[in-house]
Amino acid sequence: MIKFSHDFLWGASTSAHQVEGGNIHNDWWQAEQGGVLKEASSQACRHYELYAEDFAIAKELGHNCHRFSIEWSRIEPQEGVFQDSEIEHYHKVIAELKSRGIEPVVTLHHFTNPVWFSQRGGWTKLKLQRYFLRFVEKMAKEFSSVVKFWVTINEPLVYSSHSYLLGVWPPGERSLFKTVKVTLNLAQAHIQAYRIIHKVYQDKKLERPMVSIAANLQAFELCRPTLKNKLAVYLRHKLYNLYFIEALLRKRTLDYIGINYYGRNLADVENWGIRHLLLDTCKYNHHPLRKNSLGWDIYPQGLYKLLILLKKYSLPILITENGVCTEDDDLKWDYIRGHLEQLNKSIEEGVNVFGYIYWSLIDNFEWDKGFGPRFGLVHIDYQNQKRTIRASARKLAEVSKSGLI
Ligand code: BGC
Repeated sequence: MIKFSHDFLWGASTSAHQVEGGNIHNDWWQAEQGGVLKEASSQACRHYELYAEDFAIAKELGHNCHRFSIEWSRIEPQEGVFQDSEIEHYHKVIAELKSRGIEPVVTLHHFTNPVWFSQRGGWTKLKLQRYFLRFVEKMAKEFSSVVKFWVTINEPLVYSSHSYLLGVWPPGERSLFKTVKVTLNLAQAHIQAYRIIHKVYQDKKLERPMVSIAANLQAFELCRPTLKNKLAVYLRHKLYNLYFIEALLRKRTLDYIGINYYGRNLADVENWGIRHLLLDTCKYNHHPLRKNSLGWDIYPQGLYKLLILLKKYSLPILITENGVCTEDDDLKWDYIRGHLEQLNKSIEEGVNVFGYIYWSLIDNFEWDKGFGPRFGLVHIDYQNQKRTIRASARKLAEVSKSGLI
């Protein structure tokens, strides 16, 4: 039998643009209107209005924490114009969580940007960073008395690679130079944001907050043991998994390590070009594993391997996302149980993991893939916005409530 400690955090995550609906002032909405994306987010899950109903479900499922993002473009739809009514909205969201004994974990950047910010060059311009930092300071001042856990930036490398290397997310560019620039600028933004948040808490004489990023980690594995593949795995692990974490650790700007883990990346590289080394994966289904509905390899052991590697940094770890999109609810539960087993094994071997946050609480808008992929613990009927709790969610609830599998 597996046992988790009684103070372990159990919860699920969402992000504003994927669930709220009507985020008309951000760059995603703008791109959606341009018709280049598969689907538009439009009303999404109407979580902006239905959050209390959704949190009641989270409570029923035994969650004691919940991760969500504050949408910058709602707070500051035009440069320098801050909307008190939207700040008030997030006060209500947090109060609703707290009244149910659910600890908020607040993300400040989850892929979307205000249109005015992206039109001026967004994260490609270091000097524009001050706008994000002004927003961060405002949010820290507003919510410091009710929020302990912060995620400054969600998956910086997923953002920079999808938006500037692969070109599949706004602004749809394909430039290695810009990808590197944006990545470095995001690292700088986190470092400054971390210091700003801590200063706000110090000035107010509040208990130290816990500030981190949510880093997307992948289990990079070899398809065939060629030299090219070995170099690819080495580079991907160094750059993709560790670059950010190590850069922020050097500046002492992580209080915990937030990790988002989904599965395996099986490297099989066609030639020595840098894009190939960084991106090529096996096309022939060698070493087959079960897959989610987007075709991603399900690989719970990868989580264990990564956690053991992260042990050397001696920081507490929070699983800020882990999840599967599938129509097969038995597979969903297998996925969750498999990852919890591996997680527990790492804890037994001395890794300090203090919480598990599933992605996602509810089915939602999966960016360029639209509404097809279903990651939720809760099914959404997009015709009428009806919420239905999946059986897998109830099984996870038993674990959250008892700490036992
Ligand atoms: C992101 C989420 C996304 C999920 C599933 C993570 O990369 O933070 O926004 O929905 O993965 O793809």
